[in-house]
Amino acid sequence: MRFERMNRLKGFEMPTAVKHGIGAVQYLGEEVKNLGVDKLLVVTDKGVCAAGLIDPVVDSLNKAGVSFVLYDGVVANPPLEVVAAGTKIYLGNNCNGLLAVGGGSSMDTAKAIGVEVAHGEPVLEYECADGKKPLSKRIPPLTTVPTTAGTGSEVTQWAVITDPARQFKFNTGGPLIAAHLTVIDPELHVSMPPLITAGTGMDALCHAIECYTCHYAQPITDSVALLAIEYCAKYLRRAFANGQDIEARYAMSQAAMLAGLSYGSESAGAAHAMSQTLGGIIPIAHGPCVATMLGPVMEFNWMGEPEKFARIAQAMGVNTFGMSVDEAAKEAVLAVYELVDDLCIPSLADQGVPEDMIPRLAKEAFNDPQTVGNPRDIDVKGYEWIYKRCFDLVEPSL
Ligand SMILES: [Fe+2]
Repeated sequence: MRFERMNRLKGFEMPTAVKHGIGAVQYLGEEVKNLGVDKLLVVTDKGVCAAGLIDPVVDSLNKAGVSFVLYDGVVANPPLEVVAAGTKIYLGNNCNGLLAVGGGSSMDTAKAIGVEVAHGEPVLEYECADGKKPLSKRIPPLTTVPTTAGTGSEVTQWAVITDPARQFKFNTGGPLIAAHLTVIDPELHVSMPPLITAGTGMDALCHAIECYTCHYAQPITDSVALLAIEYCAKYLRRAFANGQDIEARYAMSQAAMLAGLSYGSESAGAAHAMSQTLGGIIPIAHGPCVATMLGPVMEFNWMGEPEKFARIAQAMGVNTFGMSVDEAAKEAVLAVYELVDDLCIPSLADQGVPEDMIPRLAKEAFNDPQTVGNPRDIDVKGYEWIYKRCFDLVEPSL
C-alpha cells in the first residue's frame, strides 16, 4: 500500500445476500418472494434458454407462485438499446423486481434496467465520468443467478454497458446498483463448454489478482481475493478438463463470487483497463481477452507490489521456500502464464485483434479510469509494451 493512497477514507459494503449450494436454484422462487416481489422481469439471453438453464428457474418461480415476464434479448457486451428495450418491458408489465439469469452481460443488463427504472432516465446519464450524475436511488429488488463462474457481477457494485456511438464500454455503479440477493448453484455450471469455463474462470482470477494488488486494496478485500486466487489455481484446471466435476464447479462458483467481492466499490487495474476499452471497439469475449492480458500485465506490474506478488505465488501453490521476495513475485507471473497455457486460451491475435491497432488500444487503455489503481505507474508507452508482449513482439522481461 502506498502512503499517499492511504490518506483517503476506505470503506466496504456488502449489499447482496449470498445464498449458495448444489441444487440451490430450487429455493429461488421462495427467496424471491421473501424480497416482496410478485412480478419479475427475468433478464437472460437466448443461449441460456436454449441450453435449458432457464428451466429449473422457471420451475422454482412457478412453484412459489411468482409471476414473471421473460426478456431473453441480452447479447454480449450489452449496448444501451438492449437495456432500453428491457426497461420498456419492465414498465409495460408493471414489474416490481428483476431476476438476472446468465453471465456478466445478463446481470449487468438487469442492473442497468434497474437504474433506468429507479431514476426514470437512460443509464448513460449515470456513467461514472466527469459531468455525469452519481446514482441516487436504489434499484428495484434484483436477484442474480450466475450461469458462469467468472464475472462476479452477482455481487459486484458495477455494471458495464456499451455505448455504440462512442465505441466505448462505460461503468455505472456504487452500492445502490448491487443485487439484493444472489443464488449461486454450481449445477447450472456443469454444461459450460471448456473455453467458456477457461475464459470466465481466468476473469475471476484476474479480478482477484488485480484487486489484491491495486492501490484500492484493503484488508477485507485482500482476504477474499487471496482465497479466490487459491481456488482458481486449485480448481480451474479441473473444471476445464471435466465439466461434471461438481466439487471443482462449486469451488469456482465461490471463487468468482469472492473475487467479485474483492472489487468492493472500487476498480481493478491495467488488465481491465485494456480489456474493457478493447471490448468497446471490437466485440470480443471478455474472459479469454482478459486472460491473455493478465500474464503480460503482471510481468509489467510485479515490481510495484513485490510482497503481494510473492504471496500470490504462494496462493497459487508455488513453493517459495528459500526464494527472495522478488524471485517469488516473478514465480506468480510464471504460474499465471502456465495456467493460461494449460487452459488453451487463444492468443489475442487468434481472438481477432489486429496488432496494428496497438497504438490506439494503448492510448484508450491509458485513458480508462481503471489505470489509476494499477500497482505500477503506467503511461501509454507502458501499455504499448504490455500489448506488444501479448503479441510476442517484445522479449519477455523475466
Ligand atoms: Fe472482468
